[in-house]
Amino acid sequence: MQPILQIMTKRVMVLTGGGDCPGLNAVLRAIVKRAAQEKDWEVIGSIESFNGVLREPTEIEILDEKRVAGIHVQGGTIIGTVNKGGPFAWPVKNNDGTWTTVDRSDEMIRKLQYMGIDAVINIGGDGSQRISQKLFEKGLNIIGVPKTIDNDLAATDFTFGFQTAVQISTEALDKLVTTAASHNRVFILELMGRDAGWIALNTAIAGGAEICLIPEIPYDINKVVERINTRYVKGRGFCNIIIAEGAKPLGGHVTGEDTHEVGNEHIRLGGVGEKLRADLKNAGVEADVRVTVLGHLQRGGIPNAFDRVLATEFGVKAFEMVLEEKFGEMVAYHHPNIISVPFDEAINKPNLVDIGGDLVKTAKGVGISFGD
Ligand code: F6P
Repeated sequence: MQPILQIMTKRVMVLTGGGDCPGLNAVLRAIVKRAAQEKDWEVIGSIESFNGVLREPTEIEILDEKRVAGIHVQGGTIIGTVNKGGPFAWPVKNNDGTWTTVDRSDEMIRKLQYMGIDAVINIGGDGSQRISQKLFEKGLNIIGVPKTIDNDLAATDFTFGFQTAVQISTEALDKLVTTAASHNRVFILELMGRDAGWIALNTAIAGGAEICLIPEIPYDINKVVERINTRYVKGRGFCNIIIAEGAKPLGGHVTGEDTHEVGNEHIRLGGVGEKLRADLKNAGVEADVRVTVLGHLQRGGIPNAFDRVLATEFGVKAFEMVLEEKFGEMVAYHHPNIISVPFDEAINKPNLVDIGGDLVKTAKGVGISFGD
């Protein structure tokens, strides 16, 4: 059988997996621009992560310099993304209407060989890089690029998208502070951050919140009430609370719903801000308490300058790792260098807020309460 694409060129396939993130397009552009400096390389995008390869007919797109021109300023990803399924857990409908998953990884690797793909660059978060690791162990020439607004990958100082999310969240808090002060209200701002409270913590410091509740520090509702009360004299005052979606009370659980989506290992978090409001009311807080959920506003839109630069560095490095055949590794930022680390090192532990670390000390030093 002949390969479906000409084999005079070497081919790298790129794909974006997991939740989208400002800077994904800047990585794609950088890979394509760097590859164009080599005479014999072609970049092919797989639509919606590995789904583009797994679908029949195959959904792929050649990415050339014309296609990626100017996309570094765009949010989202021009080749689409998904956060469930994938080669090891492909959803299949049973005859009785229920769903199950099947492992299609071997079939996918054979298909990539048939397509004449020499290497794959997988741009994604921890879940995506776990898939990269398993595919590498099966012999695929694969390289990872870390992506997540949550900044929860330990192998890299920062992931791109994080700084943009903090900026968007801080601008939201700045707006809430003025309305809270005008109305003597308590405002709760619910931010993203499934396991790691980095967005919440940075926003609380940058915007000057009084209380910051993060997944790493379960909160005592009575301590939260105490801190709110310090902000009110004879009914006048205001208070701003930042809460990460993965925060939980002492002895309690995260707030969200199990969507029972096949191939999705996570519950969908959300609602912790409303839960906190109800708990504060039950605990006797008299002030008017309002909740704002920033949600996907943190993930959409244009990446800031820092994230565009980091994403571009990651893209160039990823392609150079293809040239050097540094497969089984993920790009990482170790200030001031862009390095690579083996997948198992990249995914073996999450980057959580260090509760004894300097950033928490800084926050406490300016009076921010963690409800602990
Ligand atoms: O991992 C990044 C993240 O933004 C989490 O903070 C959040 O829980 C999740 O993605 C939401 O993903 P989705 O858009 O698929 O619900």
